[in-house]
Amino acid sequence: MNVSMEQLVSLTKRRGFIFPGSDIYGGLANSWDYGPLGVELKNNIKNLWWERFVRRRDDIVGLDTALLMNTRVWEASGHLKEFSDPLVECKKCHERFRADSLDEIAETELIVEKREKASIEKRTAHTYRVCPNCHSKDLDDSKQFNLMLKTFLGPVESNENIVYFRPETAQGMFVNFKNVLDTTRKTLPFGIAQIGKAFRNEITPGNFIFRTREFEQMEIEYFVHESDWKEQFEHWKNEMTKWMQDIGLDMTKVHEFEQPKDELAHYSKRTMDFEFDFPFGKKELYGLAYRTDFDLKNHYKEAPYREEGKESSYPHVIEPTWGVDRTVLAVLTSAYEETEDRIVLKLDPKIAPYKAAVFPLLKNKPELVAFARKIYEDLRKKYMVAWDERGNIGKRYYAQDEIGTPHCITVDFESLENQTVTVRDRDTMEQKRVPITELDENIGNML
Ligand code: GAP
Repeated sequence: MNVSMEQLVSLTKRRGFIFPGSDIYGGLANSWDYGPLGVELKNNIKNLWWERFVRRRDDIVGLDTALLMNTRVWEASGHLKEFSDPLVECKKCHERFRADSLDEIAETELIVEKREKASIEKRTAHTYRVCPNCHSKDLDDSKQFNLMLKTFLGPVESNENIVYFRPETAQGMFVNFKNVLDTTRKTLPFGIAQIGKAFRNEITPGNFIFRTREFEQMEIEYFVHESDWKEQFEHWKNEMTKWMQDIGLDMTKVHEFEQPKDELAHYSKRTMDFEFDFPFGKKELYGLAYRTDFDLKNHYKEAPYREEGKESSYPHVIEPTWGVDRTVLAVLTSAYEETEDRIVLKLDPKIAPYKAAVFPLLKNKPELVAFARKIYEDLRKKYMVAWDERGNIGKRYYAQDEIGTPHCITVDFESLENQTVTVRDRDTMEQKRVPITELDENIGNML
């Protein structure tokens, strides 16, 4: 189904996935906090990614670098000069917008010229950019606005003390290239991976967690011989596609977009985006770039890579990059279903916050509660499991469906006699009796 932004924002707030940032103080525009279930969902995504691309591959190692870096990093990487968006200010209401986000309207002006006795009609076409806020056509020319977020290190707010929060995790990996090489002895091709926050002073943040000024990235810098870049680009395109399938994205909503040459980032020779049909339209979800040897050449005076018997060289880089928050949004958009009877998040069990919920059929029967509690405590040693004894079973199913719990386990009087429980499936709503001894394996098989 096509879920609306209102439905997603409302569900995620109601159930504790995502709250507006600084809410009790009236909020802070476009900042969001992940609640108890949101952090589970987000951590599951990040852990799955780390497991898949770092732990299970012997050609990729992990890193966790500082958010604040020496300003010379940003000079060398080109971010101080090039990392900007065109900004336009409306002369009437003084709102500022990204120039490329403005709609243009075309108008035709009729000019009638009188020449002796005849009049000649001329039509001239004009295009105007219109202010999305007050609809004025009086906008100034666009200026470049650097997107890096500044702060001062130490007690003195002087120019020498300006530092920038990293706008991408990538540079932490480039400036540690030699350290990683010296300590791991990897040979090409190999990659460095990192998950972490990045900051951008976006001109027009918005659309919930889609574009924020503080967000998280999962990035790999994959170092290759120049001659192999095309093959590796294809490899990573396939890896990214498989990742999207595995986390349960609705693949009919995923589109590939080749960035035109004149719109490439300053470091890229080829970039393709994976776009996704979000509730507010088709927008970039992930990116895959061929960064050449641009970054290593700018950071290292001497070629940092050497294979035995060969000349030192600057490896080339394929960079697959994933936004964590956009992943969360795409996953929620894909999983949301609403019918007359229920709202259900059909999340892949691997990333669902809870893998199962355990209920005693009745709250006021101590023997049932104790029996159910034991099952809950046992499962909890291995999995995130919810406990619910409030209200009736129907209400408990309803609540677990809304947060995407794949299995609901109910303990009833029969359980006390024959050591079986009822397991209800989130997606089919089918219920079956299962021996308690099989519960652990059943959950394990879903993951
Ligand atoms: N190192 C390359 C790089 O940073 P990017 O396309 O600018 O490339 C990578 O960003 C990914 O980070 C995007 O595909 C998107 O998923 C995410 N992202 C970028 N800006 C964002 C923002 N303002 N809010 C949330 N996610 C963002």
